[in-house]
Amino acid sequence: MSETLLLDRERGLLTMRLNRADKKNALTRAMYSQLAQALATADADPKIRAVLLTGSSDCFTAGNDIVDFLEQPPDDLDNPVFQFMLALLECRKPVIAAVAGPAVGIGTTLLLHCDLVYVSRDARLRMPFVNLGLCPEFGSSLILPRLLGQARAAQLLLLGEGFSGEQAVAWGLATEALDTGDAALAKAREVGLRFESLPPEAVRISKQLMKAPGRESLRRAIEEEGALFIQRLRSPEAMAALSGFIERR
Ligand code: COA
Repeated sequence: MSETLLLDRERGLLTMRLNRADKKNALTRAMYSQLAQALATADADPKIRAVLLTGSSDCFTAGNDIVDFLEQPPDDLDNPVFQFMLALLECRKPVIAAVAGPAVGIGTTLLLHCDLVYVSRDARLRMPFVNLGLCPEFGSSLILPRLLGQARAAQLLLLGEGFSGEQAVAWGLATEALDTGDAALAKAREVGLRFESLPPEAVRISKQLMKAPGRESLRRAIEEEGALFIQRLRSPEAMAALSGFIERR
């Protein structure tokens, strides 16, 4: 079986590449654990100056694995998905994302916690939580209304409407849109390597200052959303929607 998360170290840059193309890089419990572990290792290693998270050149990730949701739904916050969320939240190094194609569910919400996000123009971001009988997660119910206003946040979170990489940049959710997935990855890599020549303590303190305001309310929101998400996963609405996805295959 091939590894579902590939780690590559190039000078001071650690690249974490989702590698489950046959399932559109849908995230399994094992992948969340590997991601959390890699982030913690990067954070502790002074030689690593930045982390890059990416998927395939035509698909970032289809979000949480729906089979996992049905077969092994999380039952408390001591779970690989929440460990990943906390590891990303607590990572003191810059985290850069390179996104192409679909970025669904947590594939979009995790971007709200990255420091720099490079997207292909035609990337397709979407948070269909309500459509699946679920509710927003990873702080998105707090961050998106603040960042985009209630009206646009409702379009994305209540209706689950998708949006392009270009729109993500226009709305301040991504840094720059590039013509292709490969170009987005090349740009993210170039930026990631740039951190090698920036003073690491100044980078660390600056990131900390930028993330400090609202940190506690963000953690609380993630916990509240998480508790409700766990309940929703067992609801008849979610069971019907998630089983429907599997049955349509
Ligand atoms: N969990 C588990 N498997 C998934 C998956 C997911 N989230 N998303 C895709 N897959 C699997 C499909 O079941 C299919 O597997 P199969 O070939 O064994 O049948 C394979 O990945 C390819 O998916 P497919 O839908 O045919 O690809 P596509 O290019 O037409 O569409 C997506 C890609 C991402 C738009 C579409 O797969 C999708 O909407 N996935 C669900 C996203 C989602 O709702 N995530 C949960 C958010 S909380």
